[in-house]
Amino acid sequence: MQTFSVRSASGTYRIVCGGGAISRLKAVISKQTDVTGVFALSSPRVWKYCGHKITKALGSAGAAAPILFDDSESAKTLATVEKVCRALHRAGADRRSAIVAVGGGVVGDIAGFVAASYLRGVRLIHVPTTLVAQIDSSIGGKTGVNLPEGKNLVGAFYPPVAIVADPVFLQTLPGAQSRSGLYEGVKYVNIGDSKSFAYLEVNMAKVLRRDPRALEWLMLHSIRAKAAIVSKDERESGLRQVLNFGHTFGHALETAGNYRRHLHGEAIAWGMLVATLIALATNRINSIQAERIARLVMSVGRLPSIEGIRPVKLLALMRGDKKSHAGRIRWVLPVGIGRVEWGIEIPDQLVIEAIREAPEVARLARGAR
Ligand SMILES: NC(=O)c1ccc[n+]([C@@H]2O[C@H](COP(=O)([O-])OP(=O)(O)OC[C@H]3O[C@@H](n4cnc5c(N)ncnc54)[C@H](O)[C@@H]3O)[C@@H](O)[C@H]2O)c1
Ligand SMILES: [Zn+2]
Repeated sequence: MQTFSVRSASGTYRIVCGGGAISRLKAVISKQTDVTGVFALSSPRVWKYCGHKITKALGSAGAAAPILFDDSESAKTLATVEKVCRALHRAGADRRSAIVAVGGGVVGDIAGFVAASYLRGVRLIHVPTTLVAQIDSSIGGKTGVNLPEGKNLVGAFYPPVAIVADPVFLQTLPGAQSRSGLYEGVKYVNIGDSKSFAYLEVNMAKVLRRDPRALEWLMLHSIRAKAAIVSKDERESGLRQVLNFGHTFGHALETAGNYRRHLHGEAIAWGMLVATLIALATNRINSIQAERIARLVMSVGRLPSIEGIRPVKLLALMRGDKKSHAGRIRWVLPVGIGRVEWGIEIPDQLVIEAIREAPEVARLARGAR
């Protein structure tokens, strides 16, 4: 078990993570002063798998019944936020209550926004139960919901007071969800260092078997990386952009497939391949390095195809992304093994060629294993 600290504009919070972390939940809450009530927010599905562990860990602190809501992406809406706020009010939650968000990124984003807005802010503790939530969405304070016009368009920066991330919850995660999270883990070694990259190359098979030690290594490595990055740049004015490796293209691909064709992790896997091909074409990396990156990405599993989606459509979507500036796309590109640079502009034609080449490169990288 380890503890990492994250600095945010509203103070420093701790991430207790690793095997057995959940047993510290009650102690983490009791460090907070004057908590009048603890309210678990979760979904029926997550609670079915994880509820008994949470109830046990909270002990007498968790006397209130959990407030459960649908955690499908289509329910990540203001209507759900209103429903949950009203349920909190009926249950007697006051300003000194604490919310414990138990679930994946959807639960965390909704519960986080509820915590930010209910009575103008109550304390929030994240207990993430997917790999994506543990290594990404629970850290950094971004909360929010979707509008019919687009994803995550309404929200707030609202850091939790603590995060408790235990890999025990990952054992019940469906295979595709688990792999989707692993691509984020692959992202962290790419923006980290060459030693971690090499470690994951050797140990990917163990991670895929959910070997507890290998999984915990990836989890701790990723959490440490995200905690360090958002501590330096909470509002994404600079360094935090490296976390977007694979995401420039990935977000466009998710939108093009109406969020049904590719899971988030699968879309960013394609994004990492495209970024690698652009880096190769612009001599930022050599072909041996490009092959290592492509092989590591593809070692997680087969990806749903991108065939039939026109590269020009993807370019247009990238230009419209809320992270592009005045329609200019800023790429995060590998410049070595475990190293990236950010804020790079690339001519459209080069991007289109990289998108066209990506399926063949994916096939070769998978075959070369
Ligand atoms: N706030 C941020 O910084 C940030 C970062 C990345 C992603 N996100 C958001 O996170 C969401 C995706 O999150 P996700 O990938 O965690 O998926 P998710 O929350 O949709 O969960 C995936 C599925 O797994 C189920 N599940 C969760 N934990 C489980 C467990 N332990 N055992 C069995 N089933 C379990 C859920 O009920 C759901 O059906 C997206 O809405 C995305 O926008 C936010
Ligand atoms: Zn992501």
